[in-house]
Amino acid sequence: MEEFGKMNCSTNVGNKITILTFYQLMKNTIIIILFLAVLSFMQTSCNKNNQTVPYVPLDSYLNLNLPAYINLNGIGGWAYVSGGNEGLIIYRQTQDNFMVYDRYCTYNVEGSCGAVMVDSSNISISCECDGSKYQLFDGAVIQGPATTNLHQYRFEYNSNSNQLHIYN
Ligand code: FES
Repeated sequence: MEEFGKMNCSTNVGNKITILTFYQLMKNTIIIILFLAVLSFMQTSCNKNNQTVPYVPLDSYLNLNLPAYINLNGIGGWAYVSGGNEGLIIYRQTQDNFMVYDRYCTYNVEGSCGAVMVDSSNISISCECDGSKYQLFDGAVIQGPATTNLHQYRFEYNSNSNQLHIYN
């Protein structure tokens, strides 16, 4: 009788240990799954919403008398120019004021499809990746998912020589 009682007791303890081990295993699995979910969310949000355009040094002098820049000689004209992350769009806002945009879409700055292009209307700039739109006039967002305006570079214009200096 005493023997039976001992056996019963050790079986209960064994069952408890098995149940505890099972719960421990479940807990660890849930923790690992949660950790992986958080990690994948961070990865996605980083790729999809990073608003910081990577820094690329820029320091170029453009002679606007050259045929490549002929469109920049009239107010409202624009041209694609190399430089920046994905190239630049330069827009002549007034006689003396230019806008120098990085073509990098500000919605997905780490993606490969985020180079913006001037629309045929000559009024807006679009990213074909997810449909973000910006004003050509000042680079402001006019349609999401982007929420940050196009990145701009500085400029100095010498009207005597018709030279445009673009830089960070
Ligand atoms: S990268 Fe998606 S809208 Fe531009």
